[in-house]
Amino acid sequence: MTSKRVFSGVQPTGNLHLGNYLGAIRNFVGLQRDFECIYCVVDLHAVTVWQEPAKLAAQTREVAAAFIAAGIDGEKHIIFNQSQVSAHAELAWLFNCVARVGWLNRMTQFKEKAGSHRENASVGLYVYPNLMAADILAYKATHVPVGEDQKQHLELARDIALKFNHDYGAEFFPVVEPLIFGEATRVMSLRDGTKKMSKSDPSDYSRINVTDGPDEVALKIRRAKTDPEPLPGPDAMVADGKVDPAREAARPEAFNLVHIYAALTDRTVGAVLAEFEGQPFSAFKERLTEVAVGVLGPMGNEMQRLMADPGHVDAVLRKGAERAREIASPVLRATQDVMGFLRP
Ligand code: TRP
Repeated sequence: MTSKRVFSGVQPTGNLHLGNYLGAIRNFVGLQRDFECIYCVVDLHAVTVWQEPAKLAAQTREVAAAFIAAGIDGEKHIIFNQSQVSAHAELAWLFNCVARVGWLNRMTQFKEKAGSHRENASVGLYVYPNLMAADILAYKATHVPVGEDQKQHLELARDIALKFNHDYGAEFFPVVEPLIFGEATRVMSLRDGTKKMSKSDPSDYSRINVTDGPDEVALKIRRAKTDPEPLPGPDAMVADGKVDPAREAARPEAFNLVHIYAALTDRTVGAVLAEFEGQPFSAFKERLTEVAVGVLGPMGNEMQRLMADPGHVDAVLRKGAERAREIASPVLRATQDVMGFLRP
């Protein structure tokens, strides 16, 4: 169909929130026009840390529903969950034999996630980037939209593709281009602007969930923490569209709301500050509520409708997996042929 193919994945770890929407899912929607898009719920990645079996299925459906509710078209493009397409796990094994231990030892996300209990981390967590490379290369995807935190994993996928091509003397796998998202990928807690918005924060008022309807969105913004000062002006900006870190650190909750508003309206933070300079937060919150309810309210309603109809979501995943298999199986076979596996 096209030589430009997008692949990306989201882990089904539960409580999808505004940070996941603005940081990833929203960016997937716009790519549908220019690319053939494959969006995957990466359940095999999720189990690199223990997942409650009774919850994994529901969380997988939640991500799929969020894709659909955000406006991804599962008929024109592909939405599926990773474990349904065995080529991912099979190709990941082959890549376990291509990637070097030294490469994986450099992965900062493994170091962060394993922390001081390195010996106790699952082996799956260690080889997680190899599975991610398999996800991408099973479709020979050319473009991969990810947040800043996944850049190093993408470089590893490039290294695997290059080493494979080199070791087997074949121009087999393409070189992957990252599409790194910009503004407002860091959405902070509505209660504490120094902490990231998180699925595991005990206070539901700390985050806007993708399942929140218009009333909940409005209530959470009303309750969001701010400070008594009016909004700063564009003089708070330094180079490259960034806020002066010292000013941001002094008013983290205030700037977080400004970032969220800018992301939801597709404007720069500088433009938002120029418009609202000197206004009280009460007035700004009203505008933010209008915008947030306008974007997130209908999505929350659609999420609730989809979550109540798991049969529909499952059908989208089933059909998506069938079509994904049609692409990934021949790539896996060809890889096996290149490596010399006997298929009598
Ligand atoms: N590791 C990614 C994350 O946590 C998810 C992911 C898995 C992914 N496989 C992928 C992203 C392939 C892009 C392409 O965000």
